[in-house]
Amino acid sequence: MSNAELNELKRKYVANGAASPATAFADHAENAEVWDADGNRFIDFAGGIGVLNIGHRHPKVVAAVKAQLDKVMHTCQTVMPYEGYVRVAEKLSHLVPVRGHAKVMLANSGAEALENAVKIARAATGRANVICFDGGYHGRTFFTMAMNGKVAPYQTDFGPMPGTVFRAPYPVDYHGVSEDEALRGLMMALKTDAGPSNTAAIILEPVLGEGGFYPAPASFLKKIRDICDEHGILMIIDEVQSGFGRTGKMFAIEHSGVEPDIMTMAKSMADGMPISAVVGTDTIMDASGPNSLGGTYTGSPTACAAALAVMEVFEKENVLEKSQALGDKLAKHFNQWQARYESVANVRHMGAMAAFELVADKTTRAPNAELASALCKKAREEGLILLSCGMYGNTIRFLMPITIEDDVLNEGLDIIESCLESLV
Ligand SMILES: Cc1ncc(COP(=O)(O)O)c(C=O)c1O
Repeated sequence: MSNAELNELKRKYVANGAASPATAFADHAENAEVWDADGNRFIDFAGGIGVLNIGHRHPKVVAAVKAQLDKVMHTCQTVMPYEGYVRVAEKLSHLVPVRGHAKVMLANSGAEALENAVKIARAATGRANVICFDGGYHGRTFFTMAMNGKVAPYQTDFGPMPGTVFRAPYPVDYHGVSEDEALRGLMMALKTDAGPSNTAAIILEPVLGEGGFYPAPASFLKKIRDICDEHGILMIIDEVQSGFGRTGKMFAIEHSGVEPDIMTMAKSMADGMPISAVVGTDTIMDASGPNSLGGTYTGSPTACAAALAVMEVFEKENVLEKSQALGDKLAKHFNQWQARYESVANVRHMGAMAAFELVADKTTRAPNAELASALCKKAREEGLILLSCGMYGNTIRFLMPITIEDDVLNEGLDIIESCLESLV
């Protein structure tokens, strides 16, 4: 079917809130390139929003999934467990830097992992409240929606939100929130709203994803660790977007040396197969009763086979070194654009988790969200899939496969440069 025919089906049959605004339908893809239903080629700087750190259809993952399809596709792991689930748990237990010996539960999506992390934290502490951060993003289920530090479009049509969710400022120096102010805000939220002895967990992303690719300073993360320890609160680190090599380490929290109690992960864990995980200290993970966690599809055999193959690719194909090198290369280009264009500012990267902002000018730093959407729109017309994000909608973020070929990368960067040239 052509793009036009598929768009007609979308218009007629797909719910408004779920329908993609994009009009090109993916037909097939390889590493960092996608071809649409009409045969047009796109360079993919979005990676399905950070899901494809090792590229579309990595051959080792495709082979592992195909082999699994010939064995067993589903039993429901609570009805009859299988090797893949426990082997993924074993691998993650050794890979994820939580305190002490780690245990694991698998789920299907990032939001589901966060929901379970909160359930587990409540069971382990006997407390209800959680503190989250401005600009944070955790998903679209009811509790994760309440935890998001941004109302539109996630919460707008769906209130009221569940209570017991309180919010603190996230440190973003460039936009006037210093680390000290963020800490003061957190202490205030604890004191005036959540209550230290009623708070089960403080939940945050070590680098804001949807919120704008702002990394939290290591000192801030360490102070949160101390506050949690002082009050018996659990520290939950959400690595759904920053995990699996994006920042040049397996998990972004490793840059700080902080060991959380619980971590959540999903994107890029299985190269596009739906799976997520909650990994935490064993005593915490074991707090809830038998059959209290899980679901029909959680940790499906095919997704587990893909996740095991992904972890093997990380072990054998220097993905972390490639992430660091890709980030350095991106930053070099962004810095040139920053020097050349008044509207390109605040270049930043942690490994390949790289971004810049579009602003009215470098003095006022006023966010220019219109320019960010114009750049993404024009790039798409030129055959490049590019994403914006951020509390102010003005961050251009980069989530291309870490495995992108040099010539494809350069071609994509050239498209951005020519779009900037004509827009600013
Ligand atoms: C940090 C973070 N947490 C949670 C989620 C929710 O993941 P999912 O869309 O798989 O439910 C996302 C998705 O973008 C995310 O970036």
